[in-house]
Amino acid sequence: MHFDKLETNSTIGVANRRVERVVNQLIRSYDSMAATLRIGGRKAPYDDLNYEFLGGPNDPLRKKHYDKSLRLLWKAEKEAPQLDFRDCTAREKVLRQNALSSMTPDETEAFEAITLPAFKEFLNREYSPREKEAIVTILSAIGHGEAYAWMVSTDVLNLVKSTGARAALTMQVMEEAKHFVVLREIIRAFDVPIPRQSVWEYILMERVHKSNGLEKFFGMNVLIEGIALSIFGVMGTLPGLEILKKFHLDESRHTALPTNYFREFPLSKWEQHNPLRKARRLSLILPTLALIPALEEDFAELGIDVFDFGGSVIRKVSTLAERNGFYLPLSKDRLFPLLDTLFNSYCQLTRTQHTFRSFTLSETSTGADMLAVEKEIFSN
Ligand SMILES: [Fe+2]
Ligand SMILES: [Fe+2]
Repeated sequence: MHFDKLETNSTIGVANRRVERVVNQLIRSYDSMAATLRIGGRKAPYDDLNYEFLGGPNDPLRKKHYDKSLRLLWKAEKEAPQLDFRDCTAREKVLRQNALSSMTPDETEAFEAITLPAFKEFLNREYSPREKEAIVTILSAIGHGEAYAWMVSTDVLNLVKSTGARAALTMQVMEEAKHFVVLREIIRAFDVPIPRQSVWEYILMERVHKSNGLEKFFGMNVLIEGIALSIFGVMGTLPGLEILKKFHLDESRHTALPTNYFREFPLSKWEQHNPLRKARRLSLILPTLALIPALEEDFAELGIDVFDFGGSVIRKVSTLAERNGFYLPLSKDRLFPLLDTLFNSYCQLTRTQHTFRSFTLSETSTGADMLAVEKEIFSN
């Protein structure tokens, strides 16, 4: 490569570099002193000398979350062509067309309700108006949760240390944005009124959003993701809702994020066992318990006992909480029998026939693929 070099004044060049060095020394020293005195200083947790965020590279986390997210990246246009998303590349569209051309006409029809009216007709054939209402109530509960997941993960992105963790959280922010906008379109296609958040969800989501520091990981990646994983685990096998398996896979990755982060930057013993924090964690779980009977009729419409669902959620959430050092005032072994007693007492009082059973042993996720995903998370 040939460049026509331009002439410059070398004396001025030297002077400019000197001025820059002096000003740099002044500004950096001032910022460093202000940071020590906690009266300001550099805002960005960034180390430009090492071209790294504070906390170092943390490549294992980057590989497990950022790289994996991109490998598993899914597009709404491919998974749900009836919705108004145009996010596939030209190459992806060609590949999809090739796949469709090798199917029989019957397979193609089943695979592809290509237009929104066709999808709506399909839903009307498949579900009664009351069933559609029940599905929308359950899905919108997590749909509103996706809005909070988007906001809270954006906050957490600015709390975590290391380049790898920031890359991982950036992918979570992007995935929560996709979950929010795509799920909203799916829910709207049911053509039934979409309920507001119940007050139990409202309290839960607001308190998670207001949590301090890495306690946000407990509220979001343990509690809300645990609920999301369980809802998608139930709904992803319903006709027309197969796309929710993709959501389920993303949420499974989000539940693993704190564990992988704490490997490099563990919570201190005091943060794990502080009685106030333990009590606050339990107080976040309590509104979730009120949510269980509130959804009873809608789950019943789909043939699912809401306490089986609730028990399954609590088991998953408590397992994740303990694994991450987010201890509760009670260990799992003491919490589960208490909750079983509570759930059974409620059922005894409100149902004509009820025999005691351990709801915390229930599993409401279905579908071999989703069960395999959950086995990978919960068997370790
Ligand atoms: Fe999500
Ligand atoms: Fe998530």
